[in-house]
Amino acid sequence: MTILVTGGAGFIGANFILYCVERGLGPVINLDKLTYAGNLNNLDSVAERDGYLFVKCSIDDQSIVSELLVNHSVDAIVNFAAESHVDRSISNPEIFFENNVLGTLRLLETTRNYYSSLGRQQKERFRFLHISTDEVFGTLREQDPAFTEESQYRPNSPYAASKAASDHIVRAYGETYALPVITTNCSNNYGPYQFPEKLIPLIIHNALQGKNLPVYGDGKQVRDWLFVEDHCSAIHQVLGAGRIGESYNVGGNSEKQNIDVVHTICNILDSERPRADGRSYAEQVTFVKDRPGHDRRYAIDTSKVTRELGWAPRETFDSGIRKTVRWYLDNAAWVADVTSGAYREWVAKHYA
Ligand code: NAD
Ligand code: TYD
Repeated sequence: MTILVTGGAGFIGANFILYCVERGLGPVINLDKLTYAGNLNNLDSVAERDGYLFVKCSIDDQSIVSELLVNHSVDAIVNFAAESHVDRSISNPEIFFENNVLGTLRLLETTRNYYSSLGRQQKERFRFLHISTDEVFGTLREQDPAFTEESQYRPNSPYAASKAASDHIVRAYGETYALPVITTNCSNNYGPYQFPEKLIPLIIHNALQGKNLPVYGDGKQVRDWLFVEDHCSAIHQVLGAGRIGESYNVGGNSEKQNIDVVHTICNILDSERPRADGRSYAEQVTFVKDRPGHDRRYAIDTSKVTRELGWAPRETFDSGIRKTVRWYLDNAAWVADVTSGAYREWVAKHYA
C-alpha cells in the first residue's frame, strides 16, 4: 500500500511516517509545505531509506498533488496537514481557514479526480483518512460523559472551527462523490518531536531554561492525553480495517488537569535533571491570564475503535510522560534547533 502522508514533517505526521517506515508498512510519500511547525530533522533516521520520499508542497497545489498521486499509484492519503495551535488561531484566525478548510477542500477535489481514474481493484483499496481533533465537539463539564462519535459539533476556537469545517467537507465528499473517506478525532497528543509551543514540550523546555512555567487561568482545565505512538497504531488500524464513511474517536484514557501535568513534569525533572540550586522546578510555575474561550474539559470515549478494531492505548500517562521527558532531555540539539528564530518571536509576543 503506497501512502501519501500530508503534513508529515510535523509532530504526529513525522511520528506516523517513522512508525510506517520502521515497520515496513509500504512506501510513504511525505508531502509538507514546511511551515514553522514542519521540521525535516524529525525524519533524519529515514531520509535515505528506500520507500520514503519527501516533497515540499502544499496540499492545495492541485497539479503537483495530482502528479504525485498518479505517478506513485497512491493507495491511501492520510491528511495531517493543518495549522494546529489554538493560541495562534486566536491571534491570526484567517490562515487557519485558508489552510485547514480551503486546503482540505482542494486536496479532496484533487483526490476525487484521481479516484475517478482508478480501476475497480485500486478503487476498493483506496482510502482518504482525515486526521481531526476532539476539539470539534467543544467543551465538557466535569460530570459530562466523554465525547462519542455521536457528540454534537460545537467548536469554540477558530482552530476547532476550521477543523470542524474540514471534517464536514470530508464527510460531504464521502456522501456526494462516494470517495472512501474515514475521519479520526483524537485527543491531545504528546511525545517525541512535538513543537514546544504546546503545553508539555513548552513546560519541559522552559523548566530547563530556568524560565516561568505559564499555566493559563486556574490550571484546572482537563485534557485526555494520548501518547503519539498509540495514536499512530490507531491510525494504522483504522486505515486497514476502519469502515468507510465512519469516524473514530481516539484517546488515551488519561484525563489530567493541566496543573497536575505540569507538576508531574517538574517531579520527573527534579529526579532526572535536578536544578543546580537543589530546589524544585515547581517553583517556576506561574499562573498567567487565561486563554479566551478556553475549553474546560475534553475527554474521549474510545469504545467504538476498541469494539470494532480491537485498538486500545498501550501507554499510561505515567509511562508516556516519562518517555517524553527523557526524549527531550536526550534531544537537546533538536530542541535548540526548533526554538531559534520565529519561535522566539512567538513566545515574546504571546507571553508578553
Ligand atoms: P503540527 O503543527 O506539528 O504539524 C503540521 C504539519 O503540517 C507541519 O509539518 C506543517 O508544515 C504542515 N502543513 C501545514 N499546512 C500545510 C499545507 N497547506 N500543505 C502541506 N503541509 C502543511 O501538527 P500536529 O500536532 O502534528 O497535528 C497533525 C494533525 O493532527 C493536525 O491536523 C491537527 O489538527 C491534528 N490533531 C493534533 C493534535 C495534537 O495534540 N497535536 C490533537 C488532535 C488533532
Ligand atoms: P495545548 O498544548 O495548546 O493544546 P490544546 O489547546 O489544543 O488543548 O494546551 C493544552 C492545555 O494547556 C490547554 O488547556 C491550554 C493549556 N496551556 C497552558 O496552561 N499554558 C501554556 O503555555 C500552553 C501552551 C497551554
